[in-house]
Amino acid sequence: MEFRDVIEKRRTIRDFQSREVSMNIIEYAIENGFKAPTYNHLRDWDFIIIKSIESKLKLIESEKLEKTIDLKDLEDAFQNEESIMKEMYLDAIPKQKKMILEAPIVIIVVFKPKTTVVSAKRIYDLNCLASIWACIENFLLSLAEHDVYGVTYIPQNIENIKVKLDIPNELEVASIIPIGYKANDAKILQQKIINTKDRIHIEKW
Ligand SMILES: Cc1cc2nc3c(=O)[nH]c(=O)nc-3n(C[C@H](O)[C@H](O)[C@H](O)COP(=O)(O)O)c2cc1C
Repeated sequence: MEFRDVIEKRRTIRDFQSREVSMNIIEYAIENGFKAPTYNHLRDWDFIIIKSIESKLKLIESEKLEKTIDLKDLEDAFQNEESIMKEMYLDAIPKQKKMILEAPIVIIVVFKPKTTVVSAKRIYDLNCLASIWACIENFLLSLAEHDVYGVTYIPQNIENIKVKLDIPNELEVASIIPIGYKANDAKILQQKIINTKDRIHIEKW
């Protein structure tokens, strides 16, 4: 595919078919992830591939996603937000558990941090986090090229997840990414249109 077509094609999808995704597509996407720029040349990144309901339930329990969500409460909470953002939250929040359960594969992206989040003082201290996100974008673009989509869920209870999935304590979880082919009625939310020319500054702001 042309470069720009892949960029346009990658979108966040939270509604998946149950159809399996071949390991070739996933391994190729991980290989492409590892081509991303990184601050330390080391690329201390690992990918855990989850398919079983047992492991998915461990994630849901760790994240306390079991509760049902009242849509009215959500609408009230986001009533003053910009409409595109409100639409995104109203669609996304109720799907956080479902997308983990229904995606045929969930990928956990693990990285080795330079410092703990609490002790980070400068942007530089977060370079390892920035680098793993460059890797994640390559990974998502590579999947999109093969009609496979994902959603980058950010866990809140990483320590619990680490214990339940035997992830070494010194590592961090950047994202949990349910992936799969998109459901026929999958919702693709509108991207806010930005005039990028307004965001370009020459010589100084
Ligand atoms: C750092 C980051 C954190 C995100 N966290 C979540 C999340 O926890 N749950 C979720 O459903 N989507 C999450 N998303 C997906 C965004 O909602 C999505 O990228 C955004 O709405 C733009 O849509 P697009 O990816 O289709 O352009 C996250 C994306 C990024 C880059």
